[in-house]
Formats: sequence, structure tokens, C-alpha cells
Amino acid sequence: MSTAAALFLATPAAATDKGPGAPGIGDSYFPNHGNGGYDARHYRLNLSYQPGTDLLQGKATILASATQHLTRFNLDFLLKVDSVKVNGRPATFARSGLHELEITPAHTLTRGTPFVVEVTYADTPSKVPVPDETGGFTPWIATADGALALGQPQVAWWWFPSNDHPLDKATYDISISVPQGTQAVSNGIKTRERTSNGRTTSTWVMDKPMATYLATLFIGQLDVRTGRSSSGLPVTTSYSKNLGRYDAAAKESVEQTPQIVDWLAGQVGRYPFHSMGGSVTSALPGFALETQTQPVYDPRFFSSGPDTYVVVHENAHQWFGDSIAVKDWKHIWLNEGFATYAEWMWSEKLGEGTAAEVADFFYNDLPADDPFWQVKPGDPGMADLFHNATYYRGGMALQALRTEVGDAAFFSIIRAWVRSKEHGNAETSEFVALAERISGKQLDALFDTWLFTPGKPATSPTGAAVAAKTSSAVAEPPSIAKIKKMHELLKEHKP
Ligand code: TRP
Ligand code: ZN
Repeated sequence: MSTAAALFLATPAAATDKGPGAPGIGDSYFPNHGNGGYDARHYRLNLSYQPGTDLLQGKATILASATQHLTRFNLDFLLKVDSVKVNGRPATFARSGLHELEITPAHTLTRGTPFVVEVTYADTPSKVPVPDETGGFTPWIATADGALALGQPQVAWWWFPSNDHPLDKATYDISISVPQGTQAVSNGIKTRERTSNGRTTSTWVMDKPMATYLATLFIGQLDVRTGRSSSGLPVTTSYSKNLGRYDAAAKESVEQTPQIVDWLAGQVGRYPFHSMGGSVTSALPGFALETQTQPVYDPRFFSSGPDTYVVVHENAHQWFGDSIAVKDWKHIWLNEGFATYAEWMWSEKLGEGTAAEVADFFYNDLPADDPFWQVKPGDPGMADLFHNATYYRGGMALQALRTEVGDAAFFSIIRAWVRSKEHGNAETSEFVALAERISGKQLDALFDTWLFTPGKPATSPTGAAVAAKTSSAVAEPPSIAKIKKMHELLKEHKP
């Protein structure tokens, strides 16, 4: 949140301007995502949901701070709005563009002062037309017994009005009312639950800053389990009751979340949140997502038995993606490359191939003429945001760094990154600068090669000149098949 404020205050025009806030926050791939002129601090969502009819009724109360004199500002939202108030007074509102809700308060908002927006709404989210840029995917998925809100980067538009960009993080409390007998799970800690008149209302509190796309809601006939990690943090896991033949393997895998989180903390630094967990639902068309403290998994990740690689991947994102969020979507490898590298470290820990062996295997496995090598992980482009290159070549870039600076410097870089950027936003150049400062080495050529230059680098991530070898000459680490299968499913729903 402070980053967003600083960004706008740093623009002299914006600081002296009096006028409407910009309809986008300035992302290079998604120019109309997020908005300018204010900084959201806290979202209070009071929601009521009816499984079957998919009726979602809500009131969002948003605490924000103006970063310029504001005559008008936008929220990103697709659902039908009934009324809007700003500082308790009715405000006028209009629609523009795909998902812009333009709000004109009765009085100009003064730069630097807090204000409160209340939006009251009701709609059937699964029936709302899908904007082109989502590739036809509706991230609000209604099921027979409930619903699931899960998508990246677009998802909030279908369930709450927001400043929809990772640059403007905020804290949340989310109250959700469902028919008695139905369960609802969201992010953070459940602080309250009450049943009256046949409806159960639970309140979920996320007390650490969260990007809008990391907010999730999972409603249905669920098997919800609660416990504590060895470090004493509350753990909530939830499973659809219809997981069928995937049920046992899914539970056996996701129930290992606390041990996996503890192992990750030992590698990269303390866990940034006050709770942890995970959900498995058959509502998904094939993927998993790192929703904050509560990743969501497709049961098919567990179709050949228990699989912890995807649990490691999504929980690694709690540090890389959630605590440290991107400043701009073009820096996506800071999320996906790091989460992928965590899988390779897990392979090493399980004795299924060292991270270096896994990195070199993928390097050798992909011939130089494979289109994979044409995507730059450091700037993949909007259409290739989740291309394999952001994951695998991003992971290889980290192995190449480790090879260059050695294990001791590599792990101090990672730990310093996690510490210095905790609950903030980041971009690639900051990681490169930190790596150079800690290692005392000039590293721009290395990062240019691995992140910003199309084509297969001449030497492998471990520095071996293996270009002449065929892939059959390199032994396949035992983890490869599982890692490959996991990544195929992660990307399955993409057009
Ligand atoms: N970020 C997710 C992961 O790697 C995968 C993903 C990519 C995704 N695009 C998505 C998930 C769209 C949900 C929707 O874990
Ligand atoms: Zn990921």
C-alpha cells in the first residue's frame, strides 16, 4: 500500500492535480487494472450467498486514502451495483470500460486524507459476461453445492469492488453467510461463526497485507479440518465431499502443509502469515493457486497418489508472490521462477535429484529450437504470462545464480530478499541489485542471459558446456516425471 502511495506522490502532476483518479494503476500488461488517486487500506466484505441460484449479495466497505485531490475515482468491478456511499453520503456512480465503476463523491476528497466507500450489490457472478482478456475463463465457479472464487490475475471483479492490482495490498475481514449445513472458507483466521434463522455466518480475518487476486472464497459441502502447526499457527484444510477416488491422496498430501511450510521457512526465512492451510475442490478446470494462507488445489494433482510437489509450489508462493508481490505483472518470474526452484530444492530434500540436477535436466531436455527458449521470463508478455518459461527458465536463472555465487551467498541473497521485501512489492532490478550487493559480483550479464535474451543460453544452469549432449545422455532425476505432470496440470485451463 505504501508503495502505491509513493508511486503517485512521486508524480508531481498527480500531487498537485485536482481531478479524477486514473482508471488504471499503470501496469505494463494490464493498463486498465487497478486505479489511480487513492490507496486502499482495508476491505470489509459482508456477503451472503445462495448455492444453486448463485445469488451473491454484498456490501463492501473500503477504507482508503486519497493520494491526490479526488473529484472522482474508480473501482474495478463487474457485478450489478445498487448504491454507493462515500464518507456516509450517497455518491453517484457510472460504468465505463470493461470493469470500471466510476464513483463521484458529493465532495472532493482531500489528498492525504482517509475516506470510506460503501458499495452495496447483488448479482449472479457465474452469469456475468467474461471480458476477452480472461480467455473465456470465468473465475467465479458456481457448483451444485456452492461456489469458488479463484483466478489470476482477474478474479476480484466477480465478487468485490477493489483497486485490483497487487501494487495496492490491503488487509481484509470477510463475513460470509450461507445456508446452515454449508461451509465457507476464506483467507486467514476464522474469528467468529454464528447460526441463526437457518443461516451460518463466518468471519475471516486477514491481518497482513494481501493482493486482491489472492483473496478467495470456497463454499460448499466441505470436510473442514482445523489444527495447529508445530510453531503454534492455526491450520485450516478443507475438502469437497465429492473428491471420490482422489480423496485419500489429496488429504494425505495437503495435510502435510504444516511440515512443508516449516521446511520452507528453514530454507528461506520465517513464514510471513499467522495461519496456513489449503483447499481441494473438483470445481476447478485444472490448476492450483497460491491464495494467501489458503492455497486451492485441483484433486487431479493427486491422481497418481499423494504428491507434495504442488503443495511445496503453492506454499513457496506464500513468500514469493504473496508476501513479496509483483509491482507489475511483467515481473511474474519473481513468483513462478522462485516457486519452481522451491520444488527442485524439495526434490533434493526427498533424495529424488538435487536442484542442480533437475535444473540441468530441464535445460538439456529442451532443444535449442524449442519455442520455449523464445519466451523471456523477465518480460514474457501478457499472452505468455504463465508460459513454461516463466516457471522453468525462471528456476534455471536461480540455479545459474547459485552456481555463479556459491551456496552461502545464494542463500543469504534469498533470505535477505525475503526479509527486506516482506509484505511489500518488488521488481526484477531490485533482486539483481541485491544479489550483486551480497555476492560482490557483477551479475547483469547472467540475468540478461537467463531472463531477458531469447534463445538457449550456451552453458547450462550449473555452468556445464553441455550444448552438444543429447538429452538421453543426461540421467533423469526421479522427481522429473512428477514435476512435469504437475506443471502440465497447473497450466491446463489456459486457452
Ligand atoms: N499461479 C498459479 C500457480 O503457479 C497458476 C496459474 C496460472 C493460475 N494462471 C492461473 C491459477 C489462472 C488460476 C488461474 O500456482
Ligand atoms: Zn505458481
